[in-house]
Amino acid sequence: MKQSVKLIAGNWKMNGLAADLSAVVHDLKLALQAEPASCRVAICPPATLISRLADAVRDHPIEVGGQDCRAESHGAYTGGVSAAMLKDAGAGLVIVGHSERRQEFGETDLLVSAKAEAAVRAGLAPIVCVGETLQQREAGRAVEVVRGQIMNSLPQAVTGQDFAVAYEPVWAIGTGLTPTLEQIEEVHRAVRAAMLERLGLASAAAPILYGGSVKPENARDILAVPEVGGALVGGASLKAADFLPIIRAA
Ligand code: 13P
Repeated sequence: MKQSVKLIAGNWKMNGLAADLSAVVHDLKLALQAEPASCRVAICPPATLISRLADAVRDHPIEVGGQDCRAESHGAYTGGVSAAMLKDAGAGLVIVGHSERRQEFGETDLLVSAKAEAAVRAGLAPIVCVGETLQQREAGRAVEVVRGQIMNSLPQAVTGQDFAVAYEPVWAIGTGLTPTLEQIEEVHRAVRAAMLERLGLASAAAPILYGGSVKPENARDILAVPEVGGALVGGASLKAADFLPIIRAA
């Protein structure tokens, strides 16, 4: 299947203060002004830095994303951030269902689906994350688990909208371990098939990102795998010197 332009998104997780953001954005802008990226580039900083990032890239194609949103639009949810608030702060994207949220906060497929729907309602493009644990992979259940997550955490509301899926094997996140290229291809093909089954052809162009220990050294090979439509990058997105070669590999 023909792939549309790839999306390289940096997930900063709970890292970064204003000075870190300034340094990375300064270096990225300089490099991408000299030689524009041939892919979409996004940074998903902590919520505290979203409006600062949006201001810094106002005249630049770098996109701004949140890392999570609540499913509700507003209300008595102390500490919560809604999709509309992220949009209001300048975000265009939001990650939902990251495995750290699924594990640390007990987020279920149902909740992730509601969050993705809230994102679309607020005019944000959700990046819906799926991925198996090591135990599930070792039991030969990776494809089955990921397929179930797609069927249950992708709401019909994303049909025909700007959205992405990210396949992030839990055991590859922050570990330096990655699946083989064949394993990545197998799961990405299964994700595409499940997306088609669930949403039909209207979503055939939505990219499927790979995430989990993407580095300058492995980005080119991973991004060349069929059905890999980009990358969701954690640790290596925190420094321009690491993030740029990944952008250039797309
Ligand atoms: P690392 O790139 O640090 O492994 O993190 C991946 C990730 O969780 C991105 O969302």
